[in-house]
Order: sequence, then structure tokens, then C-alpha cells
Amino acid sequence: MGEYKVDSVKLDKLASYIEGLEHAEGDLINILREAQEIFGHLPAEVQLFVARKLGIPAAKVYGVATFYSYFTMQQRGKHIISVCLGTACFVKGADKIVEEFRKQLNIHDGTTTSDGMYTLDSIRCVGACGLAPVVIVDGKVHGRVKPEDVSAIIKEIGSEEPAEQTLIKQNMQ
Ligand code: FES
Repeated sequence: MGEYKVDSVKLDKLASYIEGLEHAEGDLINILREAQEIFGHLPAEVQLFVARKLGIPAAKVYGVATFYSYFTMQQRGKHIISVCLGTACFVKGADKIVEEFRKQLNIHDGTTTSDGMYTLDSIRCVGACGLAPVVIVDGKVHGRVKPEDVSAIIKEIGSEEPAEQTLIKQNMQ
């Protein structure tokens, strides 16, 4: 597998996963989900590897990878900050929260900081409109966030490992 410019150990892991499937050709979505789990995103090289392994056109893999918003071709940061831009959150100033995160994390282009630590993205309504505006950091929900809360949230991320579970934290101020 030396022809691929991605981690060969990870490629081996993906190869074993594919080989373990009974009907790999019909399981493209699960294969891409596993690939994203392993690599953190779906670079072109990985898509090509999957296409060759399954004996299908690369365009088909690309088509599936771009159709589902779950899949990403961009490297994701170690910490994921998602700002809800659903109607209730937007009305309560979610755009100003995004602006503040961008400014403080120094993200001008794209969504991930240059050191690969943080990815800032947006999500649609998460069903917690009563807490608008809502920010989810590594699965932890922050409610009624104000631009002046942003630096404290960033500081808190720096002192914690990414959370495994979703916890609800209500900011009652
Ligand atoms: S609009 Fe943000 S939680 Fe509903």
C-alpha cells in the first residue's frame, strides 16, 4: 500500500474492516463511516483506496461522500465547537457568537485552526431552543451563550479532554 500518501497502519485497519464484510460492495456508507472514524475525515486518497478495494468508480465513492453532510473531506480539529444557527438561536444572536469564536480562535478561512486544535462549525436546531443561543463543545451543551462567554468556553476546552457523552450545562445568567 506504499502508493498511498496516508498512514499505512490506518489503511490496513480499513482494509481489514472491508475484508470482514460479507457484502462490501453494498456497504459503501458503512465503509466510509468507518474510514472517517479511523482517519478523522475522508481525504481523496482514502476514497480512492475504497474505490479500488471495492472495484467501483472513484466518482461513486466521491458522490456518496459529498451527498451526506455527515462526511467531511476536511481535517477536523481535536475539539469541535458547533454553534446552532437554527431560527431561535439565530434570533438570539448566534451569528455574533460565531464571529466572536472566529476572532478569538483566529479562524479567517475555513473552519479549523492552523494548529489543528479547534474546528468551528454550525449546526441546525438541536431541540434545545429554550436555551438559545446554543453552543455544543465536544458534545457538551452550553446554553444562553453570550459573546462575552466565548473566552471562558475556550479556556474550559483547553483544560479538558473531548467529552464522550453529551452533558447539558445551563448558563442561567
Ligand atoms: S434553534 Fe438552536 S436549539 Fe433550536
